[in-house]
Amino acid sequence: MFDSYPQLSGALPWLPLADLPTPVEPVSGIGSNAWIKRDDLSHAVYGGNKLRKLEFILADVLARGKTHVITFGATGTNHGVATAMLCQQLGLRCTVLLFEQPPSTTVRDNLTRMRHFGAELQFCGSLANTVRHYYLHPKRLSRRHYFLFAGGSNVAGTMGFINAVFELRQQIDTGQCPLPSQIFVPVGSSATLAGLTVGAALAGVESDIIGIRVAPSHLGIIPTCTPATVNQLIRQTCAALTKAGLSPPTIPTAKLVDSYYGDGYGVASTAGSRATEKFAECGITLDQTYTAKAAAAFLDAARQSTDVQLYWHTLNSRPVERVLERSHDAGPKTRWF
Ligand SMILES: Cc1ncc(COP(=O)(O)O)c(C=O)c1O
Repeated sequence: MFDSYPQLSGALPWLPLADLPTPVEPVSGIGSNAWIKRDDLSHAVYGGNKLRKLEFILADVLARGKTHVITFGATGTNHGVATAMLCQQLGLRCTVLLFEQPPSTTVRDNLTRMRHFGAELQFCGSLANTVRHYYLHPKRLSRRHYFLFAGGSNVAGTMGFINAVFELRQQIDTGQCPLPSQIFVPVGSSATLAGLTVGAALAGVESDIIGIRVAPSHLGIIPTCTPATVNQLIRQTCAALTKAGLSPPTIPTAKLVDSYYGDGYGVASTAGSRATEKFAECGITLDQTYTAKAAAAFLDAARQSTDVQLYWHTLNSRPVERVLERSHDAGPKTRWF
């Protein structure tokens, strides 16, 4: 992105924290036109889609002179793990406010990881209570604290996935993969879809970016994951780009598909379970919350068309043992509300 638009490099804080570019590969056994972008390998200790966002977010934290990041997520939050790991690397304090989700291996492993990365964990019970603690936090007005929305989905985080499309553009231009007709990605807090959508417009990648909604569309009457909420993040990001000296020619709109959501956030779906089995044959592990549902949509498209399809794999694939080997245990700091 900075090579194509050098005017952004002075204006947008950025730190190289991830292992990029991630490989792009054919998915063996699914068809000659099925491709996968391996963001699971975006870091040697803990990969996944959050690393790209944090390159911009944590640079923004440091540029603003903040020393303590406060964020929130479910007890199995991948975002909490990635944030805790990179905060530790940069000497920043990290607090993660947690709401309950059903126990699973992911929850257990991610709590272990966050503790090893020295995060202060605050168990807040329900989502509503956690959100209340986040917005009414006693440090809200402190100059040292940076409040980071769940999933790292703020404008800085969205820049990470704009940058990602420039990476893919380079891989297409150098013959590492063909131009996909469609790109499939799961959508939770939305910055991944928002960034890919804006990035495709800026980088001239003429693929349809298809977001598969995996999180509730509304909390009560408040819209949380709808075309309108994603498009709002897109508009905010385009405004930040304009301020940084680059006017996107048109403001693109997001494509969000609801039909793979199934019975709820984190609840396995039949199509997702089938996709998990199919991908396991190709050596790729999916999770029932995010990636299985997006992969199910990708498989349906690959079956129905001979066009090139790309599935953007957003789930970490590094084993929990990597954390235990590579990080020093700063010790668990846990509070209960
Ligand atoms: C593995 C995985 N995939 C996809 C997503 C969704 O990305 P976003 O929150 O940017 O919509 C998340 C979010 O937590 C995730 O952990």
